Amino acid sequence: PLVSMKEMLIKAKKEGYAVGQFNINNLEFTQAILLAAEEEKSPVILGVSEGAGKYMGGFISVVHMVKGLMESYKITVPVAIHLDHGSSFDKCKEAVDAGFTSVMIDASHHSFEENVKITSEVVEYAHAKGVSVEAELGTVGGEEDGVIGGIMYADPQECKALVEQTAIDCLAPALGSVHGPYKGEPNLGFAEMEEISKLTDLPLVLHGGTGIPTKDIQRSISLGTAKINVNTENQIAATKVIREILDNDKKVYDPRKYLAPARDAIKTTVIGKMREFGSSQKA
Ligand code: G3H
Ligand code: ZN
Repeated sequence: PLVSMKEMLIKAKKEGYAVGQFNINNLEFTQAILLAAEEEKSPVILGVSEGAGKYMGGFISVVHMVKGLMESYKITVPVAIHLDHGSSFDKCKEAVDAGFTSVMIDASHHSFEENVKITSEVVEYAHAKGVSVEAELGTVGGEEDGVIGGIMYADPQECKALVEQTAIDCLAPALGSVHGPYKGEPNLGFAEMEEISKLTDLPLVLHGGTGIPTKDIQRSISLGTAKINVNTENQIAATKVIREILDNDKKVYDPRKYLAPARDAIKTTVIGKMREFGSSQKA
């Protein structure tokens, strides 16, 4: 069923695993991720960035596509459709009104006071419709959808205050992770992660899941991380397959001939992540 992230993440935190947020870009990504979740009996979060939402024809098209596939595939595991890095109250409202079951309000580039204010408004609107809310503090590095950030670690006391002053369901404290590939090994702030988890008692979210070593994933989960976002790794897996096929066959023109194998590559990648995050067989 289509559900919010709230119960999923509370259960994940309690039982010591993380639910993957896998970003969707088109039909094939959505198919692959839903099929992987059902096969693994794993809860799953479909991440939709504002840019990807626009690409897929708008939030309403996204909701209809996801619902259609869930019905055709007879999906039984919990699925959330989540706005990734919502940039304003209006964008979050648009997603909620379209039928998203979860939103992230990323007001982390505003002042702390402004972040609290915008996040509270989103929580009030979303919770009235049973939609869960993720907020962010600090800055995730790298680039995603044209949003460029230098790394800035979240401040534990600000995290505590944000959680106390809003009623968010989960918190993404930026602690050294990066969108897109890492240059070298990530340098995650585990001490802060532990402190923030204790101070807030909320499921934490780890952005920039692509390229984080398994030992860091496991440590993050043990310190209260219950949601891990992955986008780039699936994009790389899909594009690699398509590039190989097109390089090897100059005559191919039916898009299904390269998109179906790309879809399989995404599904395999997602299954690997679900096992790594420990969410398999937890639905
Ligand atoms: O919000 C989405 C994620 O943080 C994706 O990060 O593309 O590095 O896997 P990634
Ligand atoms: Zn992110």
